Amino acid sequence: MGLKVYEGLPASGKTKAIISEMDRRRSFGDRVMLVLSNEHEELTRRPNVREGGMMGCRDSTKKFPIDRVIGTAEACELLAEQVAGTLIAFDEAQYFNPKIVPAWLDASERGVDILVGTPSQMQLQALNGAQYDLKKLEVMCSCQKRNATRVMYSKDLTYPAHLCDRCYHARMKDEEKKLLKLVQESEPFPGELHTYQPFFGIDMYGWKLVRNDCPARFDIILDAVARSDSVQEKLSDPVKQPAFIDLGCCSGFFSHGMAEQGFRSHGVDVAEHFILWANQVAFSKGQAIDYKCQDLLDFLRTSDKTYDVVSTFATVQWVMDQRGYEAGIECFQRIFEKTSSICIVEMGYTTEDIYRMKIKDRPSEIDRQWVMNLMESFGKFSQIEFHPAGEGGIWRDIFVGFKKKPMARGRVDTILKNVSTSFLQSKKIQVRKLIKKIESLVRRKSGPEKTADFDLFPLTGMLPVSKGDGYWDDRWVGPRFVAKLKPVQEFHKFRLEGWRPEDFPSASVSISLEGQEICSKEVEGGFFVIEAQAQFPSRDELSLEILTSYSTSPTNDSRDLSFVIKSLDFL
Ligand SMILES: C[S@@+](CC[C@H](N)C(=O)[O-])C[C@H]1O[C@@H](n2cnc3c(N)ncnc32)[C@H](O)[C@@H]1O
Repeated sequence: MGLKVYEGLPASGKTKAIISEMDRRRSFGDRVMLVLSNEHEELTRRPNVREGGMMGCRDSTKKFPIDRVIGTAEACELLAEQVAGTLIAFDEAQYFNPKIVPAWLDASERGVDILVGTPSQMQLQALNGAQYDLKKLEVMCSCQKRNATRVMYSKDLTYPAHLCDRCYHARMKDEEKKLLKLVQESEPFPGELHTYQPFFGIDMYGWKLVRNDCPARFDIILDAVARSDSVQEKLSDPVKQPAFIDLGCCSGFFSHGMAEQGFRSHGVDVAEHFILWANQVAFSKGQAIDYKCQDLLDFLRTSDKTYDVVSTFATVQWVMDQRGYEAGIECFQRIFEKTSSICIVEMGYTTEDIYRMKIKDRPSEIDRQWVMNLMESFGKFSQIEFHPAGEGGIWRDIFVGFKKKPMARGRVDTILKNVSTSFLQSKKIQVRKLIKKIESLVRRKSGPEKTADFDLFPLTGMLPVSKGDGYWDDRWVGPRFVAKLKPVQEFHKFRLEGWRPEDFPSASVSISLEGQEICSKEVEGGFFVIEAQAQFPSRDELSLEILTSYSTSPTNDSRDLSFVIKSLDFL
């Protein structure tokens, strides 16, 4: 028989075929062994995956005892010891390193029979050109017209529906519609197209979102991940997967986003409806995300797992409000301990209106210095980076703690590198803000860099052909923002998304193209959207002007600021 490899969609009958072949060979009196990998949590977390445990399949009459649960190196040694006539099966083989492939080929050349279920793409590449028998198991789509090419899960990740491409897209649209209808009918804003977070990868056009800054916050996580060598090493390993957890995960924007980046993703939130929605999205997209509906402190006290990347956005202040200040401090201590590489923290401050009357037992105000002191006093972060509210459109300050110094530094950190006097250390936040301000002023003065700044501008449908006046690279705009733009596609509509601090008084924002006002709108504090019809011009270049009636210079910032621009689209 030699080497036989079974490929096919989940639940297409691969394991059943392997068990049937093993049963048949055992009935002839042959030596038969079933081997699974111990290198991935997806297998090791299953209680049956142990020596002597039974491996089953969807046909409940078919089971086979597991002989060994081992790593790739041990599996290669085991293969080398086998004699001709033995059958060894490797089910869920994708959880072995591709280095196992030469050992399969070598053993099969010596007359050992080998069954492989669900190989990884890298294993198949390594098999390229070799002699082996590939069994591709096909399943019909539920429409009975075409073979299935995809699976979709509904309640759990065990029994999928098999679908062709056409049926999959139609079903996915349907699932998304059902989910959004459910969200519309539920808390926190029943009856409205309004919810807290967007869903990752789902078009929520027309929805009002409390946290419109999720993509900007996600960028901060990705930037940190890109600079951590320990996380990058795991991401590039064929079997190891770095783990991510979002604590207070709401409806799963960050957990889902990180799963799509290749992380083994988790989320914890106390609100049942958020977890229900998050699970629904994950199942329909076939993402194995582990969501838990649990109180944060209870979870932290009972879980002994560690995670490569941990985030907690605007949640611990709620634990403090519900269970007291010390409960929040305990949360943070445990969160920091659980972090192997990167910890991302956003905290609601007691200086904000919404929390001013909460956390009554606090010994001092909870503000940015409080968070920085807490992270520093933990003593195990070798670097803590600070992203001030407003940067890239984020609502609140974000702190990123690295257990091991990242490979590259942010611009501000490069400058701070050699600053170590205790005075400056204690004033780190102010120093960072000051440096950011100087950087921004320097860029304002130098012409060529300004164009590069403007390239960072979140613009679609047009290209910038001049520097923008009244615009800074942290996406703040002043009371008069002017730029020359060049259309790159036909457009009929204009859409501006922006953000202003909640406590800003209302202001009018008016937008003109070529000196002609195309719309004007009164905006409140928080996120706002301005949309208008815009006529496609007959000319190559257009001047855009945005005038805002209110602007202010915050403490320690000499700029005159009106709002943060999130996106500017000509559609
Ligand atoms: C202000 S929202 C922030 C949501 C999300 N982290 C974000 O920033 O987009 C607070 C979140 O914490 C959750 N939460 C509140 N109390 C909690 C607790 N005791 N344990 C776990 N989650 C909690 C809420 O359900 C909600 O999803």
